[in-house]
Amino acid sequence: MTARSRSIVSRQTGPHQDLARRVARALAHPLRRPLAAHTREAFGRARAWLERRDGAPLILDAGCGVGLSTRRLAEQYPAAAVIGVDRSADRLSRDHGRLPDNALLVRADLVDFWRLALAEGWRPARHYLLYPNPYPKAAHLKMRWQGHPVLPVILALGGRLELRSNWRLYVEEFALAVTQVTGVTAEAQPYVPGEACLTPFEQKYHASGQSLWRLVVELPHAPGLVPGGALAAAGEEA
Ligand SMILES: C[S@@+](CC[C@H](N)C(=O)[O-])C[C@H]1O[C@@H](n2cnc3c(N)ncnc32)[C@H](O)[C@@H]1O
Repeated sequence: MTARSRSIVSRQTGPHQDLARRVARALAHPLRRPLAAHTREAFGRARAWLERRDGAPLILDAGCGVGLSTRRLAEQYPAAAVIGVDRSADRLSRDHGRLPDNALLVRADLVDFWRLALAEGWRPARHYLLYPNPYPKAAHLKMRWQGHPVLPVILALGGRLELRSNWRLYVEEFALAVTQVTGVTAEAQPYVPGEACLTPFEQKYHASGQSLWRLVVELPHAPGLVPGGALAAAGEEA
């Protein structure tokens, strides 16, 4: 990967004017999209793997790309069970050496995987959203996680949630959405990676001299945030 990477270009100069309305809508209306069969199967395999980890604290690496961060987190937290999820088979298939025993890479759509995780009662100790796709066009607010109907599910899982991005506004918007949904204060802060970057995107942006931003927030497990409840979010009856 080269060290030249362009900063985010967006016509937005502040948080999207529709953000609060989108978040309110996600809190009021259950996400009805049916779950994909392949994600149900992938989740089933992840659940079986996690059950074999004997109650190890769970770390979710949501949108793990090629899975380098999943590997590094597994090495950093050897007592944890680290699950990296990405929908891109191409990214997940790139060879980065043997996976540590306490790491698992899963190909799945997060929108479905998160709903199944909440319905299963998963409580990640740590939950990472590392450099999610920014969707910088204002018209694409609903594709950013803070504008997406799945937002209450992400937050309801609870634990220490960490978002990183090279777009300050993305993190600022996410912070506003966290506070609107949970009442917990969250803040975008500058982030300077240490010697080793956690992900390839972090490496690329850092090497290009871009500023990085992050938000870290400790959230309670709160399935009641999800309209209709956790089981309804996964298309199951209570
Ligand atoms: C910009 S890349 C960042 C990858 C990695 N976290 C990194 O920092 O190197 C965003 C990743 O999120 C994944 N992604 C986006 N939407 C997703 C979804 N709905 N379900 C699963 N993965 C998704 C993409 O496939 C892509 O690998």
